[in-house]
Amino acid sequence: MRKIYDIIIIGSGISGLSAAIFLKEAGFNILVLTKAKNVYNTNTNLAQGGIIGFTENDDPTVLKKDIMHAGSNFNNESAVDIFVEEAPKLVKKFFIDDLGVQFTHLPDGKINFTEEGAHSVKRILHYADKTGEVLQQALFDQIKKMNIPILASHTAVDIITNNHNSEDNQELYKPREVMGLYVLDNRKGIVRTLLAHKIIVATGGIGNLYHHTTNPEIATGDGMSMAYRAGADIINAELIQFHPTALYHKDIKRFLISEVLRGEGAKLIDHQGLQFMKDYAPQKELAPRDVVARAIYNEMRKAGKDYMLLDLYNFYKGPQQIRERFSKIYKTCLKGGIDITKEPIPIVPAAHYFCGGIKVDKNGKTSIQNLYAIGEVSCTGLHGANRLASSSLAEGLLWAKRAANHIRNNFKEIEITRLKSIPDWISPKAQIQFDPLLLEQDMRAIQLTMWNYAGIIRTRRGLERARSDLNYYSYRIFKFYQDAKLEQKIIELRNAVVNASIIVNAALHNKKSIGCHYVIDDCK
Ligand code: SIN
Repeated sequence: MRKIYDIIIIGSGISGLSAAIFLKEAGFNILVLTKAKNVYNTNTNLAQGGIIGFTENDDPTVLKKDIMHAGSNFNNESAVDIFVEEAPKLVKKFFIDDLGVQFTHLPDGKINFTEEGAHSVKRILHYADKTGEVLQQALFDQIKKMNIPILASHTAVDIITNNHNSEDNQELYKPREVMGLYVLDNRKGIVRTLLAHKIIVATGGIGNLYHHTTNPEIATGDGMSMAYRAGADIINAELIQFHPTALYHKDIKRFLISEVLRGEGAKLIDHQGLQFMKDYAPQKELAPRDVVARAIYNEMRKAGKDYMLLDLYNFYKGPQQIRERFSKIYKTCLKGGIDITKEPIPIVPAAHYFCGGIKVDKNGKTSIQNLYAIGEVSCTGLHGANRLASSSLAEGLLWAKRAANHIRNNFKEIEITRLKSIPDWISPKAQIQFDPLLLEQDMRAIQLTMWNYAGIIRTRRGLERARSDLNYYSYRIFKFYQDAKLEQKIIELRNAVVNASIIVNAALHNKKSIGCHYVIDDCK
């Protein structure tokens, strides 16, 4: 007898775990699923800067202005209105009042709100430079307390729908409905059928499609690719936010140098030690991210260098204060032989956040019945063409809450007989095991194509080249691995090439430069 869940949530970052907590409180039978062996392997856990919180010095209209300005006014205004009214208060209530998270305080006992680019008020809650770690831990503690089951090392293969999968041919003529997931048990190599009345996709971003990224290796956008195959609407896929400052180091990859360094005074300099941001924007280092990332990229190209530099030590209080305020960044850089209390930090812009994704409404509902998406994989339209720093954790929490409320108020079970007509997964007869190096090589090819042709500064010619390269990779990946024994890396590679094509096609379709979609040639 196959088990039927009320709701399955894919992903164990802030949005997935918060949704699990709210839904369990509402009495549902839920399961959280993650492909990672280590459930802490999430983008949330890596967040350094912080999370927008409630402060008396702020005002919803000011926050709205900042979000819309960063987003080039391409934002979904109704999502912004909901966010500015609800998110800062919810962050305070949930994390501080309910879960007891201690953010960094000033010596006088007041919360130390910090600043990042494009914020006109100090409104960011943080815990030194490891805010994500602290939030992720608080969420896991709560998940444990509430006995919420988490199935790790299980990779979702596909979303089951009545139209695609049912053995009852009458289901083809009914509106499309999601009914569960096919999921690979990474350790045993078998595919299980998990049936559910609702699925929430909270799988995070797509950073690993790019050569330089701040995201973990597992950020291959599986949720978007699965939702796309199930027929969900995807929007704004061309809008990839590049963080201006990831560490540039031969051994240490994917390490963010938080925007808070610039928020607290650090300056960008070239290899001659000259500050260059004044040539690009009146707000200099604190201009919106897309502007700063492009400025750095431009300077790199002008100078023929692979990186630029961020000078903190000449502009911050003193070595001891640097070690305390930026302890994680200090220790990580030191491991790589860079003492940030004495020398500038080599930095490069890196794919950081996906502003597009699965189109959802104000309750996280997608265009398919029973399918919700929350967090980075979704597109509420809040971020417009470029996300305001430290808004994504708060968005993930708020849409988790709204999706949970919507499910609670509208929950309806799918009839058991209909679920019974979903067959189990049939594995192909041949089960070839490929050398991991081959998979690695194909992933590298996608990452370089995306970095060079669908990156920070794009040209139409480059995007066309990317489309043709990706068409070739798609053919090769789908054909070559047709008889492969299913494993996490193959699922990720297939999802990655699908997502890369979605992004490049969207970029070719949008002929106007806006926010983080920046095209420099004539796109007629
Ligand atoms: C950072 O610390 O710079 C990242 C914050 C964010 O991406 O919102």
